[in-house]
Amino acid sequence: MAESALVLVEPDPGRWIATVALNRPERLNALSEPLVAELVAALTGLDDDEGVRCIVLTGSEQAFAAGADIGELANASAIDMLETRRRDRWADIRAVRTPLVAAVSGYCLGGGCELAMCCDLIVASETAQFGQPETALGLLPGAGGTQRLTHAVGKALAMDVILSGRRLTAQEALAAGLVARVVPAETWLADAQALAAEIAARGPIANRLAKEAVNRAHEGPLSLGLDYERRLLALALASEDAKEGVNAFLEKRPPAFRGR
Ligand code: CAA
Repeated sequence: MAESALVLVEPDPGRWIATVALNRPERLNALSEPLVAELVAALTGLDDDEGVRCIVLTGSEQAFAAGADIGELANASAIDMLETRRRDRWADIRAVRTPLVAAVSGYCLGGGCELAMCCDLIVASETAQFGQPETALGLLPGAGGTQRLTHAVGKALAMDVILSGRRLTAQEALAAGLVARVVPAETWLADAQALAAEIAARGPIANRLAKEAVNRAHEGPLSLGLDYERRLLALALASEDAKEGVNAFLEKRPPAFRGR
């Protein structure tokens, strides 16, 4: 892995994917400001790399991330929270156009759960535990947790998780619609990377536009989302990749997408 201190990036050009691993094991990958800054730099760099068509975001076997760095929170004033660049950094992660697969093992709590939900889909090891424990600290989720968890699992379960601190097992998260797949503890990361490679083998422009369209489903009324989706489909149709994909199907051969 090409190493920087808090985030490790492992390109896999043969499969058009890259894996980004949070690397602060002594704090269970708590999301300190420097870690999030490095994460954003890594993700935006990969987003601009034409050789990367899907990104896996992961932590360690023990923890995807145990939340915001509570030590930093202890010293932060309300005005610090409002003024911090942290908000911009989360917006930068949301703005990544390349599909993002979260590969989650172990603790996925607070800001960690919010980060996983910021990704396009979550692959969970059987060991994963999802939670929003902030109210135990006298806080509430502040990076989208109240909104994204509620969208994903519905009001009843979101209220339970956020108000009572209940943690969801991987299987509960799957049943509730928070995660896309649960995979064995022995192969969780390889399985997430294999899924990323499957995604990366498909039309890269179409994937980016489809991701954008699906995300619209959560923003604004259905009618606007449907209209937006139709326009993005028209845009995709204009790409060389769409011609290649359609022709390859008709010619019964694998497509050779060029990202154009
Ligand atoms: N911030 C800073 N340090 C953290 C941390 C966090 N979120 N989570 C764990 N750590 C540190 C611990 O303090 C500990 O450090 P020391 O070895 O120096 O004592 C180390 O990581 C290992 O943690 P534990 O010994 O506690 O490990 P455990 O296996 O016994 O428990 C845990 C694991 C249940 C995840 C527990 O660490 C825990 O409850 N962590 C806090 C989880 C939490 O409340 N997250 C929400 C943070 S607030 C947030 O995210 C706000 C937001 O959205 C705006």
